[in-house]
Amino acid sequence: MEKIRVLSVFGTRPEAIKMAPVVMELEKNKDDFESIVCITAQHREMLDQVLNLFNIKPDFDLNIMKHNQDLWTLTSDVLLQMKEVFEKTQPHIVLVHGDTTTTLATSLSAFYAKIPIGHVEAGLRTFNKYYPFPEEINRVVADSVASLYFPPTQQSVENLLRENIPENRIYLTGNTVIDALLYTVNNNKSDLADLNLDKNLKTILLTSHRRENFGAPLENICSAIKILVEKNPDIQVIYPVHLNPNVRKTVFGMLDNIDRIKLIEPLDYAPFANLIKQSYIILTDSGGIQEEAPSLGKPVFVLREETERPEAVEFGTVKLVGSNTDKIVNSVQEILDSKEKYDQMASATNPYGDGLAAPRIIQAIKENRDFLIKNKN
Ligand code: UD1
Ligand code: UDP
Repeated sequence: MEKIRVLSVFGTRPEAIKMAPVVMELEKNKDDFESIVCITAQHREMLDQVLNLFNIKPDFDLNIMKHNQDLWTLTSDVLLQMKEVFEKTQPHIVLVHGDTTTTLATSLSAFYAKIPIGHVEAGLRTFNKYYPFPEEINRVVADSVASLYFPPTQQSVENLLRENIPENRIYLTGNTVIDALLYTVNNNKSDLADLNLDKNLKTILLTSHRRENFGAPLENICSAIKILVEKNPDIQVIYPVHLNPNVRKTVFGMLDNIDRIKLIEPLDYAPFANLIKQSYIILTDSGGIQEEAPSLGKPVFVLREETERPEAVEFGTVKLVGSNTDKIVNSVQEILDSKEKYDQMASATNPYGDGLAAPRIIQAIKENRDFLIKNKN
């Protein structure tokens, strides 16, 4: 029987973390699948960290990252280069993930080639085209051209149904980030000794990199951190700073060389997952960390005005605080001052998955074998 030829395409750190379980699962099912991996390398160092951890050796590496790249160049580079990869590989299905420019341009390129697309982490929405920017539109476009949908939660299923996506193409799988997190936490014992964290202090883990936070919002976030550290001698802040130069300029300009604020380079995923576990509170505008931290029972303050991940907000583990300095300070101070309020936020919840999303995705692709091999969209 002809194997289903699956081309998995990703380009950034979070896509790689969340696609790694799918690639590993495809490799385990060699009788049914031929697995081909193409990385655009929209990210370079931060992507390579993940490839090493999961031992993924790509068949194609487009190596497109440029310093301080813009969306136009990035989009057109991926769009064009993927055309050649499709011609060489003739896949039955292209798997894309989430909402990056790699996702958008690969989806569009596959659509032009009339190759069916499977969208992992489909259906997330804020319904605001500028929050997050450009990710909201990236995922809307990916969903409008996809043929198979792998949304992580019931709410994301409902978003797709509202857009008239046929129900028989939608598979509720959970988020593969939980597969990746459990695999990493169980298979890697990474100790954090190198970070020299003070064990007597409460650790606040901070990350911020969203484009809509560049400039004044990120400055407000940094101001809030300074105030919190001044007010609370029992806390320390650790911030693995994203490699985007727009982030680094502001963050190093405002938070470098301050007592109890540690700016470090992006961490490998295994120590980072461990650092989440050891932290007291998380402040982030990341998508993935909003999904990981609740499952490890950590309160999360989201430095965004809107989230496409409302599930843990509804449960109470995650609070949206945006980028207003006072709001961030007051919200964090509230749970620093009250153990009761802290405990209310810190109960573990896992609305995003059970660690078995990747096998469900593989099973769904198998069920669509005839449709994919005959390629009748
Ligand atoms: C991208 C995604 C965003 C995702 C984020 C995850 C888009 C438009 N944005 O944002 O959705 O949340 O990745 O981290 O798809 N850089 C390096 N080395 C790296 C990675 C980045 O030097 O390994 C620097 C480069 O100068 C690069 C810049 O960061 O030009 C921006 O990278 P880009 O992928 O365009 O944007 P991100 O902010 O990383
Ligand atoms: N992460 C990591 N090292 C770090 C910071 C984050 O491995 O120094 C992981 C994190 O656990 C999560 C993913 O990277 O799985 C999130 O990536 P990012 O915040 O860059 O992107 P987003 O999820 O917002 O698209």
